[in-house]
Amino acid sequence: MPTTAVVGTQWGDEGKGKVVDFLARDADIVVRSQGGNNAGHTVTVEEEVFRLYHLPCGVLHPEKKSIIGSGMVLEPFKLLEEIEGLTARGIPVNNLIISHHAHLIMPYHLLIDGLEEERRTKSDSRGKIGTTKRGIGPAFSDKMARSGFRVCDLASPEQFRDRVRYACDEKNALLTGLYKVDPLDPEKIADDYLEAGSRLLNYTGDAVATLHQGIDEGKRILFEGAQGTLLDIDYGIAYPFLTSSHPVSGGMTLGTGLAPNRLDRIFGVVKAYISRVGEGPFPTEIHDEIGTVIRDHGQEYGTATGRPRRVGWLDLMLLRYSAMINGLTDIVLTKVDILDEFAEIKIAVGYELNGERVDYVPRDPSLLPLIKPVYETFPGWLTDTTKLSTGDVLPEPLMKFLNFISRSVGVPISLLGVGTRRKQMVELG
Ligand code: IMP
Repeated sequence: MPTTAVVGTQWGDEGKGKVVDFLARDADIVVRSQGGNNAGHTVTVEEEVFRLYHLPCGVLHPEKKSIIGSGMVLEPFKLLEEIEGLTARGIPVNNLIISHHAHLIMPYHLLIDGLEEERRTKSDSRGKIGTTKRGIGPAFSDKMARSGFRVCDLASPEQFRDRVRYACDEKNALLTGLYKVDPLDPEKIADDYLEAGSRLLNYTGDAVATLHQGIDEGKRILFEGAQGTLLDIDYGIAYPFLTSSHPVSGGMTLGTGLAPNRLDRIFGVVKAYISRVGEGPFPTEIHDEIGTVIRDHGQEYGTATGRPRRVGWLDLMLLRYSAMINGLTDIVLTKVDILDEFAEIKIAVGYELNGERVDYVPRDPSLLPLIKPVYETFPGWLTDTTKLSTGDVLPEPLMKFLNFISRSVGVPISLLGVGTRRKQMVELG
């Protein structure tokens, strides 16, 4: 395993956590590069369930190094809670490097995320995004406006305090003026953040140097994607119903300082159906009883927010688009077992737009709600796939399903996820 990336190819929640955990067996360093605690990765080790929000899944393998890259935004108290929670469960987090250039989610980011969602809900011209309300968008906005705080700023208490006062002048004007809520106390924010900083700074370092030193030493690096390609701020489907970072393979290099040509393999995680949490276009969404069954069997409720996810049939148009944007070398098809009891399984193989067949994803967002998916129906495998292991002969209908997906996308399927446990992963030859 040289330098490997794992990206979500859909709207997140593809089961990346388990895939990363599986591939991490062969990695020396596991890296997260974008997003923040809007991500929620669930990993089941033996009978124990771990939910990680900021931390790379590599932390569950204490002998491996984990890196949080500068492309991430961090909520310091939640991050410390995660680190300390794992330590309390007997998993020491002593091999973690947090980039000192990662940005901080501030209390006003959290507040404004929620308040702005409410304001948009009431507006005729906008409509809410359905964010996780973790302050992600506002934190990335400040980063780009060059008024954000980075982890390294916590090392200079006086300057940090001054800058928090300055930031609060602006944010409090917004909170009291536009949103009509109480202002925040900059002194309390500074006290709380500096206290968290005194613990967090123990983990910070030069993530770029650590990563490149690892590569020079021939270490095997695994990049752990969060969210999914279709939520990418530039390439997602569709603006503005997106997250504020780059959950694509290019984002992994930007968010960590790795040159693009250093990525050797790019695994795209594809759920055997598709889900979306939050608002936005969703051509293959299922609105009937089948959707409820998939949601319940697949436990399609947000790890970070508990919200029920919208579910739909696998969409090959979107998957081909994702494969192109990410340069996928491999597909990991997950949650295959959730479809075990279906006599018929659909896949969208094309779209109809204004009565005409199209074989591309329209880039004009106003056309997306007009799309009608064209489906191909496959016989279900009606077999308990949760017992399958590497080397087993797969049921014929499942083979047909897999071959069809892989041929249509032009990317081989290397791994199948057939359950929540670490060992429920089938390697295909
Ligand atoms: P934000 O990232 O909290 O700003 O939310 C923007 C959109 O991205 C919303 O539709 C969220 O539901 C979605 N989103 C953010 N993170 C995740 C994730 O990890 N999985 C699935 N959807 C996500």
